[in-house]
Amino acid sequence: YGDASQKIDYVFKVVLIGDSAVGKSQILSRFARNEFSLDSKATIGVEFQTRTLVIQHKSVKAQIWDTAGQERRTELSTATNLSLLMIVNRYRAVTSAYYRGAMGAMLVYDITKRQTFDHIPRWLEELRAHADKNIVIILIGNKTDLEDQRAVPTEDAKEFAQKEELFFLETSALGATNVEEAFMTVLSEIF
Ligand code: GTP
Ligand code: MG
Repeated sequence: YGDASQKIDYVFKVVLIGDSAVGKSQILSRFARNEFSLDSKATIGVEFQTRTLVIQHKSVKAQIWDTAGQERRTELSTATNLSLLMIVNRYRAVTSAYYRGAMGAMLVYDITKRQTFDHIPRWLEELRAHADKNIVIILIGNKTDLEDQRAVPTEDAKEFAQKEELFFLETSALGATNVEEAFMTVLSEIF
């Protein structure tokens, strides 16, 4: 865990995206503070946390951005009147700011909720529309501690990741499984 007094060689911005309740905030909390909470509240607005680590003898400050899983996108896409269009514009401005300067993205779904995986192409579309084209992307299937409730076979996700040229890992924020590896995959690839 980071030593605040050391000099920083690089700052890497990484964004977390995916449906609500897939575990984005808990993945971040596990990575940044080694903490986990079962009664995590839905994120409102945008938050970020940092952790400084050493990669190949350089100190890298990872600045990880987290936001709400926003089911509102589908409602907004069908907006027809002026006030709704104004909300859409504000939403787009916030979306652009979120992705601006991001060098990595973690695209998270919940292995126990098929719908969260089925929405991944939409998140990828948003990412590709707003982020830098060289952004490093990892697909993450979270909550592997709930194996008995699995609804998304590992093979399906692996195949999708291969087709879209994404890194892929399954994690458990609760069990601290592969969380470190997921961040290290993205950060070392950016490096
Ligand atoms: P939004 O902020 O609404 O977009 O949701 P989020 O993706 O940030 O989800 P959050 O991290 O708040 O987690 C949602 C719920 O899932 C909480 O009850 C967490 O405790 C739980 N959760 C997160 N990660 C895991 C995990 O690895 N295993 C299990 N069993 N539960 C998890
Ligand atoms: Mg959250």
